[in-house]
Order: sequence, then structure tokens, then C-alpha cells
Amino acid sequence: MARVAVVTGGTRGIGEAISLALKEAGITVAANYAGNDEKAAAFTERTGIKAYKWDVGDFDACAAGVAQVEAELGPVDIVVNNAGITRDGTILKMTRDMWEDVIRINLGGCFNMAHAVFPGMRTRKWGRIVNIGSINGQAGQYGQVNYAAAKSGIHGFTKALAQEGARFGVTVNAIAPGYIDTDMVAAVPTDVLEKIVAKIPVGRLGQAHEIARAVAFLCAEEGGFVTGSTLSINGGQHMY
Ligand SMILES: NC(=O)c1ccc[n+]([C@@H]2O[C@H](COP(=O)([O-])OP(=O)(O)OC[C@H]3O[C@@H](n4cnc5c(N)ncnc54)[C@H](OP(=O)(O)O)[C@@H]3O)[C@@H](O)[C@H]2O)c1
Repeated sequence: MARVAVVTGGTRGIGEAISLALKEAGITVAANYAGNDEKAAAFTERTGIKAYKWDVGDFDACAAGVAQVEAELGPVDIVVNNAGITRDGTILKMTRDMWEDVIRINLGGCFNMAHAVFPGMRTRKWGRIVNIGSINGQAGQYGQVNYAAAKSGIHGFTKALAQEGARFGVTVNAIAPGYIDTDMVAAVPTDVLEKIVAKIPVGRLGQAHEIARAVAFLCAEEGGFVTGSTLSINGGQHMY
């Protein structure tokens, strides 16, 4: 029977490319999203992949969402924790809500999803969890103490959970993308983006499918010896 994957934030941007790459690898994919019903419906029509709405920052919603996917598609073998938001501002301008939303969704979402699927993966002695971190969690970024803290936390979370999963065939890895051409980056002011691209040695933004390719590798049967790693995919911008 085909493996089943949940890709959080799987209906657009990097997540859409990941959903498609896993589908192409013969995996049955459930794409989660937060609230953009229009984009989710268009995604399902385009790809044939079913979309499921819940907030990854909500612990109970993740448990219920995973239960629904398992009832409809079968036990979840793979989770890609890709859902993420930015709420940028220097610390002087950052409100407590901006801090808490980013930590709750970006980092808390990884915990909530892993907590929902880990027992089943452990019992079945096979699982793949891939967490999408960021170059800004490795290097820091002006105006992003919330995002950098959450993404840096994801990298630590990955290494700790990898140790818990290793004996049970459950691998846990992270990918740290650099700047990828998605809606999230389109929100960055043009002058700031030009300065960012000037610092990328390959001279361009990354493409979502370049991240998806690596996720598919980590989720493959042959990926079983790769665990606790963080793969940087950033055009040489930060060599970690
Ligand atoms: N783009 C980059 O340059 C870049 C670089 C490094 C890391 N990353 C990371 O890569 C991931 C994907 O980024 P992206 O640029 O593809 O983002 P994006 O285009 O803004 O898409 C974000 C996706 O996450 C979903 N989402 C947001 N909050 C959610 C929540 N609370 N619960 C469930 N789903 C939620 C969105 O759902 P809706 O459509 O319903 O809003 C959407 O599907 C993020 O974790 C981001 O931090 C991106």
C-alpha cells in the first residue's frame, strides 16, 4: 500500500511543490492549509491532492486533523512540517502577539504534528518527519527575532526528536532554505529583496521545486540512514 504523507501548508509555495514531489514519488498526500480556501480549492483541482484545513498552532486541531486523514487515507507515515508565517519588525516594534503567533505556528506546529503522529510511526517502526527551518534560523536576520528564534528552535527540535526516533525507524531531519521565490518572499520590499539577491552567490532566488526535491529524498525508503541532519539549500548564501 502507498505511504501516506501530510504536508502542512501544502497548498501553495514551497508546500505545494513538496506535495507534488511526494505525489510523483507514489505517496498518497494530504495537504494541510490554514484558511485560504480559494487557493486550496484551486490546488486540489490542479493536482488531484485533497486539502485539509486546520491551524497547526492548535494542538487539538492537529490531533483531530491527523485522525481525519488517517480515517480517510490510512496511517500517516510521513509529516512535512512546512507551514509557517512571518510577522516582521524590530524588537522595539514587535508586539507580544507578533512574537507569540510566530512561535506558536512555526515552532509549536512542529511539536503538535509530531506529537500526533509519532506514536503510530513508532509502533509501525517506520516514519519520516521533515521540518522546514530557514537560513534566518541559522544566521539570524534583522527584524526577525520571532522568526529566527522559531526556526532555530526547529533545528534543535529536529536533533532531539531524531534521537528519540532512531531506534524505531523514524527519521527526523530539517531543511534550511535560503530565499525562495514564493508569496512569502514577494512580501519583502523590492529594494530589500534586491540587496538580498546581491548576497546570494548563485545570483538568484531559489525555486520551490529545489526544496521539494530534497524533501522527497529524505522521505524515501532509501533515506533511512539520514537522521538529525539539517540540509542547507540557499545558493551558497550561508555555509553552515
Ligand atoms: N520562501 C522563502 O524564501 C522561505 C525561506 C526559508 C524558509 N521558508 C519556510 O518555508 C515554509 C513555506 O514557506 P512559503 O514561502 O512557501 O510560504 P507561503 O507561500 O506563505 O505559504 C504558507 C503556507 O502555510 C500555510 N499556513 C500558514 N499558517 C498556517 C497555520 N497556522 N496552519 C496551517 N497552515 C498554515 C498557508 O496556508 P493558507 O494558504 O491557508 O494561508 C500556506 O499554505 C515556511 O515554513 C517558511 O518559513 C521559506
